This record gives sequence, structure tokens and C-alpha cells, in this order.
Amino acid sequence: MSSHVVVIAVDGPSGSGKSSVSKAVAARLRLAYLDTGAMYRAATLWCVGRGTDLADGPAVAHAVRVMPLDMGLDPAAPTVHLDGRDVAEAIRTTEVSTAVSAVATNLDVRAELRRRQRAIIEAEAAAGGFSDGRGIVAEGRDITTVVAPDADTRVLLTASEAARLRRRSLEVHGAADDSAVEATRDQVLRRDRDDATVSQFQVAADGVVTVDSSDLDFEQTVDAVLAVVGQTAGA
Ligand code: DC
Repeated sequence: MSSHVVVIAVDGPSGSGKSSVSKAVAARLRLAYLDTGAMYRAATLWCVGRGTDLADGPAVAHAVRVMPLDMGLDPAAPTVHLDGRDVAEAIRTTEVSTAVSAVATNLDVRAELRRRQRAIIEAEAAAGGFSDGRGIVAEGRDITTVVAPDADTRVLLTASEAARLRRRSLEVHGAADDSAVEATRDQVLRRDRDDATVSQFQVAADGVVTVDSSDLDFEQTVDAVLAVVGQTAGA
């Protein structure tokens, strides 16, 4: 890796392998790692914990503006602290997964979280990353297009619907037989539909390189993204 400061933006739908692949890419290049989906999840948990009515847009936006959120950026052990409390597990419950779209579709919430995400990315780029690498891998739905459109490398990680359902089914049910996949289908497709109302993340914007992981295993997908980094960021 050269001394060049690198910002790598990765977007993709649920089940594309975006989080695990981004983490591995950051670890390999010794860069910091930011999971922006975890910030929307934390915002949801924060609102639920305060008893904020998720249907009350202005109240949700206010709650998120005062949310004391701290993101730990080490890709080997990323952390999420809300008001000093470790919420890494609490933000992954079905309750949060079901409610998060109501928060993530609030435009004032998006403006606030995007502001915080840009500040984190800029600070990492300026400081030279969490480790001896210089820069950050940030992943989400709107990183390549809105949060960091000037990133050195911008990747859209996609996978066929069948591949995404199979992976999510393995993750949630530990199996990918027909009935397990069926049980996952509704949740994955509904989330994609809801998420698509706030950002068009399933089609690559101009200058964004698509990596289709449908027929790649995990290591091959990491290598494919690293190859794009090599071509675009001069790594
Ligand atoms: O990637 P994830 O499942 O942890 O994301 C949680 C939710 O946050 C999901 O509904 C999509 C939304 N999200 C978003 O709107 N913008 C981002 N940059 C990241 C996530």
C-alpha cells in the first residue's frame, strides 16, 4: 500500500456480502472500517429506547440529532456505543431490523447521519486511518453516490436474488433448503423495496464499478474488490 490516503466506498443490497467483504478489504489494507447501516440501526434503537414514536418524523429527527453515538473503526473488532453502552448485538435484533426502514427513510435523519459519516471519513483520511494504513472503507447504501462521491474507489457489490436469499437464509436459519429460503424471502425483498425508496443503490451510478458476487465465494469476492482498488486507488 502506498502512502496515498485512500477512501473506499462500497454500496449494495442486503445479502450481497457487503459488510463482511468490506471488513476483510479494510483489514487486508490496514484501513479503518465504517458500517453506516449500523448507524441507522443504532438510531432506531435509540428512538425505541427513548419511547419516541417512529411515525412522528420531527420527533425521530430530533432524537437522532442528540444521539450520543460512537463508532469504533477497527475492522477486526468494529464497535458501536450508544451513550457509552455497547449495542453491537442489540442493533441486530429482529425488532430493530423490522423498524429500521421507518428511521432510515426520514430525510432529516439521513441528513444528520450523512453529516456524521462524512465527518468520520474526513477525520480518518486526515489522520491516516486507525492503523498504519491510511484511509477508510465505508459501506452502506448511499456511500458511492451521496456520502463519498469523491472516494478513490467506488464499488457496488451485487448478487442475484437467489444468491442473496441463500446467504441470508444460511445466516439467519443456518440452512438454505427451500423452506428456509422461503422464510427469508419476505424480509429480504421487503427491506430492499423499502430501502430503494430513499436511495437507488441497486444500479451503479456513473464511475461506480459493479462487482457481482453471485458466482464467487467470499475470498474471491474480497479479491475482486481488491482488484478494483488496485486499478482505481493506485494501491
Ligand atoms: O446494511 P444494514 O442492513 O445494516 O442497514 C440497515 C438499514 O439502514 C437498512 O434498512 C438500510 C439502511 N441504510 C441506509 O439507508 N443507508 C445507508 N448508508 C446504510 C444503511
